[in-house]
Amino acid sequence: MARHAVTLIPGDGIGVETSAAMQRVVEASGADIEWQGAEAGESAIRAHGVPLPPSTIESVKRTGVAIKGPVTTPVGTGFRSVNVALRQALELYVCLRPVHSIPGAGGRYDDVDLVIVRENSEDLYAGMEFEAGSEEAAELIALCEEAGLGRIRPDSGISIKPISVTATRAIVRYAFDYALAHRRSKVTAVHKANIMKHTDGLFLSVAREVAAEYEGRVAFDDRIVDAFCMNMVIDPSQFDVVVFPNLYGDIASDLGAGLVGGLGIASGANIGEKYAVFEAVHGSAPDIAGKNIANPTAEILSAAMMLDHMGEQACAERIRAAVRSVYAEGETLTADIRKASGSSLAAATCTEFTDALVQKLGCG
Ligand code: NAI
Repeated sequence: MARHAVTLIPGDGIGVETSAAMQRVVEASGADIEWQGAEAGESAIRAHGVPLPPSTIESVKRTGVAIKGPVTTPVGTGFRSVNVALRQALELYVCLRPVHSIPGAGGRYDDVDLVIVRENSEDLYAGMEFEAGSEEAAELIALCEEAGLGRIRPDSGISIKPISVTATRAIVRYAFDYALAHRRSKVTAVHKANIMKHTDGLFLSVAREVAAEYEGRVAFDDRIVDAFCMNMVIDPSQFDVVVFPNLYGDIASDLGAGLVGGLGIASGANIGEKYAVFEAVHGSAPDIAGKNIANPTAEILSAAMMLDHMGEQACAERIRAAVRSVYAEGETLTADIRKASGSSLAAATCTEFTDALVQKLGCG
């Protein structure tokens, strides 16, 4: 088996615990990994004075692949999101988030199997914001009035929502190619084109153009985002591959996670032409950090996606089989899953759950 160099960014909060668990499970799967540690978030501020040091980006550029724990982003401060900066620096234009039921995980459904493909580089996440009361906000407000767009209150903060033909074409093509490669039959584009004609409307019309290239091979339909949410809750089986602009994709990922057992099991990847960074959907969970009670499944399943990406499908499948087996047995599950399933059984710690997985992988 080939040895693979992987950049490991544990991140903040529960990231420290879930990353250690993930490492143990990946090693127990038989994958031969050379971990190259790197920092982001609060640990990076302590060590380097900045939340995303150049050495972290350089490490990912060297290895090509990273697995990252969550990073705390203080709300409403000048601190720019490390995740957004990392995605921009490495041109990770795809955010891939599978929503799969794991029987025993306490989900609302036991048969969900869809994939969220979220555009990762623009939309309201582009980080183009103007503070209320700033000169730039006042200029923009004046410009909008001059253009006859109506009045914006002078004490408004403003975020810009760019949606381009280029980025939309790239993400929708990725969704269709993913569907073909994974024998999936339909792509659904989600938008609010009825209200935001020049952004979401553009997203929809480009999606339709791309869909025409795949006609006869992959089916296509579209949903308005609010109707999509309702349909997801009522019957998620109607969705297969679902492609979103950035913000809706972020919200839909948590909705999907909620249907299958919660954030503790929701995995993901950020993918570009050259590099890929794998990470769980959840954040740093400051409320439970340092207590050894976090569920590491999401990061472990993100690592399985990473192993697929590196051509180590057998190791990835061993990990997924071990996860399914521990959940099906139901003896060693973390507190979030006990709560989601309404179970009064004692919860396992992060370490105990990881021990159970490692044992399943034949390394106990
Ligand atoms: P969160 O995902 O950290 O937590 C939401 C709730 O889910 C909490 O009650 C938490 O205890 C629970 N939870 C999350 N992951 C869990 C796990 N693995 N096991 C058990 N319970 C789990 O979201 P929140 O509180 O909104 O964000 C906290 C911080 O994380 C913020 O600074 C936010 O910006 C950041 N964040 C970072 C992300 C990343 O780095 N990829 C993604 C999302 C949020």
